[in-house]
Amino acid sequence: MKIFRRKHAADLQAEAQNDNRLKRALGPVNLTALGIGAIIGAGIFVLTGQAAAKYAGPAIVISFVLAGLACAFAGLCYAEFAAMIPMSGSAYTYGYATLGEFVAWIIGWDLILEYLFAAATVAVGWSGYVVSFLKEFGLVIPAQFTSAPYDHHAPADAGWNMWRLFTEGWVSTGATLNVPAMLIVGFITFLLVLGIKESAAFNNIIVAIKMAVILTFIAVGIAFINRHNWHPFVPPAISPGVFGWGGVLRGAGVIFFAYIGFDAVSTAAQEAKNPQRDMPVGMLASLGICTVLYIAVALVLTGVVNYQTLNVPAPIAVAVDAFGAKLAWLRTLVKIGAIAGLSSVILVLLLGQPRIFYCMAKDGLLPKMFSAVHPKFQTPWVAQIFTGAVAMLVAGLFPIGLLGELVSIGTLLAFLIVCAGVLVLRKIHPEIHRPFRTPAVWLVAPLGILFCGGLMAGLPRDTWARLIVWMAAGLVIYFAYSHRHSKLH
Ligand code: ALA
Repeated sequence: MKIFRRKHAADLQAEAQNDNRLKRALGPVNLTALGIGAIIGAGIFVLTGQAAAKYAGPAIVISFVLAGLACAFAGLCYAEFAAMIPMSGSAYTYGYATLGEFVAWIIGWDLILEYLFAAATVAVGWSGYVVSFLKEFGLVIPAQFTSAPYDHHAPADAGWNMWRLFTEGWVSTGATLNVPAMLIVGFITFLLVLGIKESAAFNNIIVAIKMAVILTFIAVGIAFINRHNWHPFVPPAISPGVFGWGGVLRGAGVIFFAYIGFDAVSTAAQEAKNPQRDMPVGMLASLGICTVLYIAVALVLTGVVNYQTLNVPAPIAVAVDAFGAKLAWLRTLVKIGAIAGLSSVILVLLLGQPRIFYCMAKDGLLPKMFSAVHPKFQTPWVAQIFTGAVAMLVAGLFPIGLLGELVSIGTLLAFLIVCAGVLVLRKIHPEIHRPFRTPAVWLVAPLGILFCGGLMAGLPRDTWARLIVWMAAGLVIYFAYSHRHSKLH
């Protein structure tokens, strides 16, 4: 079948070596920082508190362990691919080499949910912290310009009726647009068009700031933990997915968002000095560091205040308030850290998306202009500006909870396909040189599939409806355009 035509992994390895249009400027430390820059963001600063309050209670700590395991399994599979096929298209390219063009398209289309939509999601979180930070200094931006014009409450009686889940339940919030969220996306897009080396330096500074803030929060917070706040650790279930073990699972699906980004390292493969060694290092090191930090933050957060107080735009600041007036400076520091931290997340996500477009365009699945590289800046500037423009719109129009869940489900699907792809390639091309091999692959990859699928199953039905509509739109584009314009055609 033509839609299952594949690129040969050996050809891809040669292509990676011969395509030197992007500048190779990144080493292992930069790549790990790139990973951490992408990982620690709205997930820990915003969604963790909200997920604890709404779904899991203190057991959000267990949710973090579950989501972390899913990422660890998927990360080990990703690393095998990233070292073997160091191309900037990430999972899209791996899919092309293993499961064929159609699946590659599905992954590529799905990754738009991960990168472009996640950038918009984090921009909304950024806007929330900036608004609250400015308020401390008496600068009030009218609410009309700081939040989304729409919110969504799934109709309770819709069952699995996808169309109703998708179209009904939209309510107007009275706001016009989330302007700060749009501005930050625009600004970072501008930086990225100018060049990757400069962007990586900017990223390193920000990563240092946010790590310092998080470590301070943990170190100071430990002294304020009140064990009573951890009882009951798993609050009794109210309805399916709300508290109880179902809530822990749903919480894991929601805060999975917090881990997204380590795989963004792989989209910079063609800009890495030594991708075969440094891709796995960058991904796994950043994932490991963040997992430890998250579990510590979740323990402190739910230990310092009751989880019910955390359903707010700046949950970490709520916990800091409980430290007392003497430590009020920490509250400002946390906000600065969050603002800086969220900026670097947006940066890495906006860096990843155009590189996927770039690969898809080179393969003919998207119009050629998406693979244009700027003669002076050596960046994929057309794809970059397109990504920025769409992300600005999404960030201006939708609320963070809705976007976050959509990003989570889309990314989980991509991870699941990557885990399957590693197994398929081991079977059909055992001979290819693999600089990094997933350990115990016949255990790790199936566990990755199981965990990612499990977390997807825990997410709400309206999120499923959005995923299905998005993927259906992708199919239409594939058969109407990409299939016929493919270079392999
Ligand atoms: N993991 C990133 C965040 O939490 C996307 O913001």
